[in-house]
Amino acid sequence: MHPAIRVEQVAEYENQEVSIRGWVYNRTHKGKLVFLLLRDGYGFVQCVAFKNDVDAELFNQLVHIPQESSIIVTGVIRADKRAPGIPGGYELGITQFQIIQAAADDYPMALKEHGVDFAMDNRHFWIRMPSQWAILRIRAMVISAIREWFDQNGFINLDTPILTPAACEGTTTLFETPYFDEGVAFLAQSGQLYNEANIFAFSKVYAFGPTFRAEKSKTRRHLTEFWMFEPEMAFCDLDELMEVGEQSITYIVKRVLNERAPELASLGRDTSQLDTIEPPFPRISYDEAVEMIGKIRDRTEDPEQKELLNFEWGMDFGSPHETALTEEFNKPVFVYGFPTQVKAFYMEPWQGRPEVSKSVDLLAPEGYGEIIGGSERISDPELLLQRLHEHNLPEDAFKWYLELRRFGSVPHSGFGLGVERTVSWICGINHIRETIPFPRTIKRMYP
Ligand code: 4AD
Ligand code: MG
Repeated sequence: MHPAIRVEQVAEYENQEVSIRGWVYNRTHKGKLVFLLLRDGYGFVQCVAFKNDVDAELFNQLVHIPQESSIIVTGVIRADKRAPGIPGGYELGITQFQIIQAAADDYPMALKEHGVDFAMDNRHFWIRMPSQWAILRIRAMVISAIREWFDQNGFINLDTPILTPAACEGTTTLFETPYFDEGVAFLAQSGQLYNEANIFAFSKVYAFGPTFRAEKSKTRRHLTEFWMFEPEMAFCDLDELMEVGEQSITYIVKRVLNERAPELASLGRDTSQLDTIEPPFPRISYDEAVEMIGKIRDRTEDPEQKELLNFEWGMDFGSPHETALTEEFNKPVFVYGFPTQVKAFYMEPWQGRPEVSKSVDLLAPEGYGEIIGGSERISDPELLLQRLHEHNLPEDAFKWYLELRRFGSVPHSGFGLGVERTVSWICGINHIRETIPFPRTIKRMYP
């Protein structure tokens, strides 16, 4: 036996004999040849057995090997442009193999078209398919890149609690759970409030974890459990916040383009819109955005689309508005200065315009919608208390949060980056449920 290599390394082993440990994804048999498409977790590679090269009994075993059987194959790696696979272009000529387990022959995800509901019911198997595998490999790279950028730019990772006593992002999407003698706890909608405590000890911090929203909306962009990356910075205003956003997003996109090109190609992703992403990203105010939407609406001929684009100052964007806006640009776009009434309680008001908040959303191109939401935070303790009351939030639960403003308060800002939304944009897939191994939506908690 030879040391096992990973399929992603095949190019380094051209003309060498190696072993690969994996699973049979597909098998075809043509006369004296058996082709296996083998997956090993790192890629998909074609392996070929020629009848004259292996024992007749063993050859016969390969002819009938069921999909998903686990196997170790040994042979020489050859370059062959036509060989399918991810990355593809290489094949292994089998000289020896060992079947670890011949899989049962009633595999639910046999290679044919499956409906999405069926695929989701079989998510534990679906993740073995090339498309899902590629998306989840890109997800992991996105997460690794985000952490790396922030770790290298003066941030420290401090995670925040999941079981919390109060709401951060409005009381309508809270998940509640009994909590001993304390009554109830809520699953965190965001780690922001605790991040805000952390900056006064560490200056620049980030939290990264699962966040929960009992979203009643059944859209392609909403999960009830999703992962958020949340940086928070002391001595930081809205402009500096946008800079951090565009720098880190650019870094993520570049790393995925560099290190996950075969996966993107296997998904059929046209990367031309990603290749050109560089700071600065366009920055438009909410007021300008409203005007732009009005103009787009005026020149729209389709009455249904026109109707969808109806909009008035003071409203929050819906998905048609975000899509229309981002189609005007070929980069992610910052929209800043949203009406105070549609945003969270903690946002600093615009100087001289209290009806506007120092808030910012980053909208991804190609209609993928909001991937970042953030703001400058209120630093004045009196105003913050007033806002808590206006939003009917329990003062008691926020006592510690209010105290932060009495001991060394400074202008500070932060945002939340939705990992799944970012992954769907980068992968170019239209439903967020495929961007997390086991998605939770309003209709699904299984598997
Ligand atoms: O805009 P949001 O609600 O902002 C906050 O929670 C802030 N407290 C974050 C902060 O400033 N530290 O959420 C931030 C991002 C959104 O831009 C979106 O990408 C994602 O989280 N997001 C969701 N992703 C999937 N499913 C949902 N239901 C989501 N809700 C928000
Ligand atoms: Mg938001």
